[in-house]
Order: sequence, then C-alpha cells, then structure tokens
Amino acid sequence: MDILTEKSSMRRAADRWRAEGRRIALVPTMGYFHEGHLSLMDMARKAADRVVVSLFVNPAQFGPSEDLARYPRDLERDAALAEARGVDCLFAPPAEEMYPAGYQTWVEVTDLAAGLCGASRPGHFRGVCTVVAKLFNIVRPDVAVFGAKDFQQLQVVRRMAADLDLPVEILAHPVVREPDGLAMSSRNTYLSPEERRSALSLFSSLELAARLVREGEREAGRIEAAVAAHIRSAPGTRIDYVFVGDPETLRPVKRLAGPTLLALAVWVGKTRLIDNTILEPC
Ligand code: PAJ
Repeated sequence: MDILTEKSSMRRAADRWRAEGRRIALVPTMGYFHEGHLSLMDMARKAADRVVVSLFVNPAQFGPSEDLARYPRDLERDAALAEARGVDCLFAPPAEEMYPAGYQTWVEVTDLAAGLCGASRPGHFRGVCTVVAKLFNIVRPDVAVFGAKDFQQLQVVRRMAADLDLPVEILAHPVVREPDGLAMSSRNTYLSPEERRSALSLFSSLELAARLVREGEREAGRIEAAVAAHIRSAPGTRIDYVFVGDPETLRPVKRLAGPTLLALAVWVGKTRLIDNTILEPC
C-alpha cells in the first residue's frame, strides 16, 4: 500500500490506474479507523479495481469551539489497518496541501444542509462539501463510499455530486454497530465507562421507535416524544435534536406514510453523538 501526502503524486497514481483501464473507488475519512470505516473499504474493494482511502482531519468542517485539536489521530495504526483490508493507497495530505495560503473557495449545498446537524454546526457541511469536492477532483474516482451513520452528510454529498455534475457514483454503507448496538464512531473514544452506558440510549431509542411503528404508531410527534423521554432518562445526556422526516428532502413529516428517517444528535457529557434509522410503516 502506498501512503501519499501530495496532491500531485495522488493525481499521478490515479491517472496511471485510469490509463490502465482500472476502476477507482474512494473512501473519504478522517482516520482513527474502526470497523465502520473498514467495512466501507471492503465495499469499495468489491466495487472497483483500485481503492484509495483519504485520511484528512478537515479543519474546514470543525467549528471554532469544536474538537479539531483533540480529534484522535494515529497514522501508523490506520495505515496497518487499511493495508490489511486491501487498500491500494492511503492519501493523507497535511492541511497546507489542501488549504494553501490564499485559499478562498467553498462549496455549499443549501436546503439539505440547513437543518439537523447543519443547524447546530454552522459551516460544517460547507467544509465537508468543499473537501469532498476537492478529493473527487484530485482522485477522480468512479465510485465513492459513504456511511449511512452520517445520513445527512450522505444526502448532502449526493446532492452536491448531482448538482455539480461530478462523474462519480455515490455508494452508501449501512450503519456499523458495536455488539450492543452503539454506532461505531471515532468519537466513542472520548466516552468514560458511565458515558458509554448512557450513549447506548441512542440505539435503544431507535429500537423503541421501530417497535412503536410496528405496533401501529404513525404520529411523528408521539414518536419524537417517546424517543426524547427515553434518551433523557439516561444520565448525562442532552438532546441536540430528534428528527422524524423525509429521508430524501430532510423535511419533517407529521405522519409516517412510507420509509421515514429518524435521526438523533445527543450530547453525552462533552461528546456529541449521532445515530439514525429508517422507520418502515408497512
Ligand atoms: P469520518 O467521520 O472519519 O467518517 C468517514 C466515513 O465513514 C463516512 O462516510 C462515515 O459516514 C463513515 N462511518 C463512520 N462511522 C460509521 C459507522 N459506524 N457505520 C457506517 N459508516 C460509518 O465523515 C467524515 O469522516 C468526514 O466528514 C469526511 C466525509 C471524510 C469529510 O471530511
């Protein structure tokens, strides 16, 4: 596996593969790999002949009071894990390579990025879209794999690729969970043992909502209220949002008529966690 840190060498490697007729997959990440990231790499492996994983803790998507400085990093460990999953190239540029002095161009998706995480993290999706668009232009992948764990991000990136006519197919991988149901996240490393227990309320509230829907509940407000009460009963939690709405438009719905997104963002201590599921009234 090659580890590349310069855009020019990344572009040359990808150009070479393309000239050989290889299909290229890209998995954008911020590193500190867990099984969620590694499953995306497996999916990329199946979808293409060459797999590029980018590892870049993107300063542009962190707010001034967020966890950029303490975001977990371990390039050596990540490189070993990626290599073991059959990744061909790890692209890990320094911040100056992606945002050199004088940088001033941004990519913004409007409506889809406005609510949910966009509302509590102003500028977050502008940073995500900008770096993902740059990565697409550097690697020019045939396919790119994103996780449904960050459901809004997935939809925002799909919209950006469609709206900007970027010739890349976006693949979605389902949420990968710990054996007890907690969605895997690099940020789970911040949790104390007590917080780790409280964090499980996100997943169990999704299960609760699915059960209510199975039992016939169709009122979004009642589902939101039950989910919120369940999460509040776990010590040290503070709800950012509980959202029930259309998975495509991310607009809220009042009643469930078809597959409906239930998305959560919850503070557990000083750590903000997200999770989601699709509720399926039959
Ligand atoms: P990061 O949080 O490192 O996640 C990289 C990719 O892994 C994203 O597509 C994310 O949705 C996926 N992922 C993370 N945890 C997952 C889980 N438990 N199950 C399934 N997929 C999971 O998301 C980012 O980085 C950044 O915003 C990025 C897209 C790289 C742009 O900087």
